[in-house]
Amino acid sequence: MTEPNIDSLAGWVSPQGVTQPAMAEVSGDALAIRPAPAVGEPGTAGAMQHFASDNYAGICPEALTALLAANDGHVRSYGDDEWTLRASDRLRELFETDCDVYFVFNGTAANSLALASLCRSYHGVICHELAHVNTDECGAPEFFSNGAKLLPAAGEQGKLTPAAIIEVVTRRGDIHYPKPKVVTLTQATEAGTVYRPDELRAIADTAREFGLRVHMDGARFANAVAGLGLRPAELTWRAGVDVLCFGGTKMGLPVGEAVVFFDRSLAEDFAYRCKQAGQLASKMRFLSAPWLGVLEDGAWLRHATHANAMARRLAAGLAEATGLPTLFPVDANGVFVRLPSRVEEGLRARGWLFYNFIAAGGARFMCGWDTATETVDRLLADISQLSREA
Ligand SMILES: Cc1ncc(COP(=O)(O)O)c(C=O)c1O
Repeated sequence: MTEPNIDSLAGWVSPQGVTQPAMAEVSGDALAIRPAPAVGEPGTAGAMQHFASDNYAGICPEALTALLAANDGHVRSYGDDEWTLRASDRLRELFETDCDVYFVFNGTAANSLALASLCRSYHGVICHELAHVNTDECGAPEFFSNGAKLLPAAGEQGKLTPAAIIEVVTRRGDIHYPKPKVVTLTQATEAGTVYRPDELRAIADTAREFGLRVHMDGARFANAVAGLGLRPAELTWRAGVDVLCFGGTKMGLPVGEAVVFFDRSLAEDFAYRCKQAGQLASKMRFLSAPWLGVLEDGAWLRHATHANAMARRLAAGLAEATGLPTLFPVDANGVFVRLPSRVEEGLRARGWLFYNFIAAGGARFMCGWDTATETVDRLLADISQLSREA
């Protein structure tokens, strides 16, 4: 069997300078490595890029290289390995503070276990009504906290406000209602917007006033940092965030999120929570090494910046082609637009995959770390043509 060439597996750079994964093809006992195509004919499975989710993308070259590099020899298990220690240290450097770091398999577990460590079973967790924890985690936050209740609140552009939080906290003060204990924010939000530091600070001040902890679902934290052009610390602990679930999957990792405790006292026994929930990876190096890959040379931010730029290109092209405004400001890597149903149907008939049940309705187009300019332009050309026919 041919030995894979690790360099060639690390990625392929398109003429536009966009790196994308290589593909392995097995024929008989021969293994061939070739660049994965960025764009294919609609309907060509495997070749076409889509806008349904940023988790449709493959592994970014930096993460893949690190993953392969970690596949060397025997190392200690359950996180007691060099890769995990170094990735944790890099995260501490990135956040400019001595935080506690845990690597888990996915965002639902990260959020649920982090929230469970901030409250008890009779507590309430204030969230936006569109929050992933509320709409897309199958009750996991309640399950892992043994019953803490999510208390959803409304807010423009997918964001909570101090006023909305005060309304929930002061709604009831009696023994029959769960006691509010945590505020959870999504950064970037499910509507593709971002909280600015002053908004975060105002929320955190309100939270402190009422004795609430602040959790951040950062499945798209990288996109928020890239969108705001600020230091990660300014959007987290310096703004009053106690715990961040830093998304790796949507950033180009194969799998995995990092739970970052800025208030280290809140991390007490967190490793036990992870173990009990089936989230303590025995071969932890394969969760942590890809983090190292994207953190070492700033690839995490470069990829997020690219994804955001593709979203802005799409939004600008949409306005030009259809005159339709986006439903929310395009602060990160998501574009929401209410397309005529004939256009949506036409896009689906041409093979495009995208969702229209997320946030406040409309079609959602998510851009990933590897979304190619040509893919955006091809989608725009199809929307333009279908709009003229509709
Ligand atoms: C805002 C948000 N939080 C968390 C997650 C993580 O979910 P998963 O458990 O699928 O990794 C997602 C994934 O879509 C998300 O969009």
